[in-house]
Amino acid sequence: MATTQKTAKRYPLNVEGLSIPAIGLGTWQSGPGEVGKAVEAALRSGYRHIDTAFGYRNEKEVGQGIRASGVPREEIWLTTKLDNPWHKRVKEGLDKSLENLGVEYVDLFLVHWPASIDPEQEGANDGKGEVFEDWDFVDTWREMQKLVGTGKVRAIGVSNFGIKNLERLLSDPSCKIVPAVNQIELHPGNPSPKLVAYNTSKGIHSSGYSPLGSSDSPLYTNDTIKAIAESKGKTPQQVLLAWGVQKGWSVLPKSVTESRIKANFELDGWELTEEEVKKIDAIPDRFKVCGDDWLPIKVFFGDDE
Ligand SMILES: NC(=O)c1ccc[n+]([C@@H]2O[C@H](COP(=O)([O-])OP(=O)(O)OC[C@H]3O[C@@H](n4cnc5c(N)ncnc54)[C@H](OP(=O)(O)O)[C@@H]3O)[C@@H](O)[C@H]2O)c1
Repeated sequence: MATTQKTAKRYPLNVEGLSIPAIGLGTWQSGPGEVGKAVEAALRSGYRHIDTAFGYRNEKEVGQGIRASGVPREEIWLTTKLDNPWHKRVKEGLDKSLENLGVEYVDLFLVHWPASIDPEQEGANDGKGEVFEDWDFVDTWREMQKLVGTGKVRAIGVSNFGIKNLERLLSDPSCKIVPAVNQIELHPGNPSPKLVAYNTSKGIHSSGYSPLGSSDSPLYTNDTIKAIAESKGKTPQQVLLAWGVQKGWSVLPKSVTESRIKANFELDGWELTEEEVKKIDAIPDRFKVCGDDWLPIKVFFGDDE
């Protein structure tokens, strides 16, 4: 189960020859003037996986950070995401992200949310407005599939899909390509065992976002996490990341603080015991960082647990 060399670990995907590094730098809420330096510091510290999105409004600076690091593009796993107001313009959305990032291709292009928002509506870029009545994520996926083979993406996937929406997508006759990844919220406060098992049963890799519990995380003061961290001489953050990797998903810790970026990557040469993993699994307190209240439609139906 456990792996001592977590930073070199990769998970195979359902695309021949492709595997995703277990640890990636997250960049949501990483602002201007800091995100480029964070990406550069991460790559110089050994990270080889960067997670961004058009919606984070920082792709340009992420691209600058990649170039400043001196790490060759082909050594880096780069993920970006199609924003909700771009669902009817998938090709254009990808081209815009590639232009922002200053790269020829991304390794993984995700449908950020199963919500196709009309870009003409006021506030559309903040999730407000209305969804198209004549277009939903099945239509978006049909267009996503056309990107494969263009050389602009190595894999395509989804994010924030619960079981209900995945079943609908996978059972639609137009679905010829099973998503390589479903990027979902995963931490001890939202461990989603049913959704992870469903993803696995369909050959879809689960990638865990907000692995530390996001900003002001209540996990850092959780007694179980604290006790395990203290007994091992590790930080609560390192314990949370080791737990994710040992559970079998990739983790995407975000930080704009160089010392934290480095510490979050110090995961080799030690592991959680099976008993420690089980203790973390048994933490009863539930919380979710990203719900669907900010969207005009529901996307979670209790099927993301
Ligand atoms: N697909 C989606 O819809 C979706 C949704 C949410 C997130 N994501 C992805 O997942 C990534 C991670 O999620 P997240 O940004 O919500 O949260 P996270 O990685 O769980 O937590 C980030 C927070 O933890 C702090 N932190 C990081 N390392 C620390 C350390 N060693 N000690 C103390 N504090 C530390 C960071 O502060 P500083 O930065 O100030 O150091 C920041 O406030 C995102 O950045 C994004 O790439 C995707």
